[in-house]
Amino acid sequence: MVDVRGLVKRYDKVEALRGVDLAVRAGERFALLGPNGAGKTTLFSILATLRAPSEGTARVLGHDVVTGRDAVRRAMGIVFQEPAIEQRLSGRDNLLLMGLFYGLKTAAARQRATEILTQLGLADAADRPARTLSGGQRRKLELARALVSDPRILFLDEATLGLDVDSRRGFWAQVSLLAAAGRTVFFTTHYMEEAEVADRIALIDAGRIVALDTPRALKARLGGGVIRLQTDDDAQAREWLGAHGLAPEPGGQELMLVHADPAAVLPEVLRAMPIKVHRVSVNEPSLEDVFLKLTGRGLGGDAPVPAGPRAGGPNRGGAS
Ligand SMILES: Nc1ncnc2c1ncn2[C@@H]1O[C@H](COP(=O)(O)OP(=O)(O)OP(=O)(O)O)[C@@H](O)[C@H]1O
Ligand SMILES: [Mg+2]
Repeated sequence: MVDVRGLVKRYDKVEALRGVDLAVRAGERFALLGPNGAGKTTLFSILATLRAPSEGTARVLGHDVVTGRDAVRRAMGIVFQEPAIEQRLSGRDNLLLMGLFYGLKTAAARQRATEILTQLGLADAADRPARTLSGGQRRKLELARALVSDPRILFLDEATLGLDVDSRRGFWAQVSLLAAAGRTVFFTTHYMEEAEVADRIALIDAGRIVALDTPRALKARLGGGVIRLQTDDDAQAREWLGAHGLAPEPGGQELMLVHADPAAVLPEVLRAMPIKVHRVSVNEPSLEDVFLKLTGRGLGGDAPVPAGPRAGGPNRGGAS
């Protein structure tokens, strides 16, 4: 579906992509997860034929994104981070216009609009000006717009930025239905919970793919559990742990370590360490933990992981 080889993109001084290889399979939900400035939008834009690569090749459905640009454009739907719908028009009229733009006759365009609005649960809100819809409804309308041409592949760039958690779940539930119906979905995000809905995830940092696998396999790479401690003196605790064969992750504001068997080692730490511990949490590794381990820094963005203990257990979100 998508085949990327040796992709390099240079802007004046910045090398935004530094040799990216990846392949997306048909019907797959594929996430590109990384922090601000990692190169996500750059890769998205090249695949969506909006920018040309400096080196390397990218093919979508077998068409080269440069020489086969028009064929790629016919086969894809795009959702941008920025709104593309006309806010003064109703949702229905937005879709109708898209349909006409793609060469459908009026009756067919109307029918297509109704189909998509119903499918996305927007039928009731479809006749109001788009600007009066909720943030979540407007994002779904962006998705609806991308579906008018019945694309085989969807490209989404930070499609839910700024939405609350419930609206994001609703959005991804719809995307999952589209994928279940056989469409391929390539999306970028810096929310790790969103990447969890993907079949496979590429972690991108500073223009390079640092890992590519299923969410489960990525987390399994860390092995065991993640222990977080809050103590009277984290620097001293860090030193003590290091001296006792437990290597805390370097960097980061919090004291965190990955261990194959937290339950076996924690009681001894709490008993023997001469620094007072205020809080302990043990969690399954998150994608953020994996990213931190691989790159030495977090995903950042506007949904930082709180330093305190997080809701326990694996959180697969509600959209799978
Ligand atoms: N048109 C441009 N001209 C110069 N530099 C650019 C341009 N677009 C992006 N960059 C730089 O390329 C790098 C990658 O940017 P890109 O927008 O691809 O990142 P991103 O992963 O999408 O980040 P974000 O999460 O903030 O959207 C950044 O250092 C950015 O400043
Ligand atoms: Mg971006």
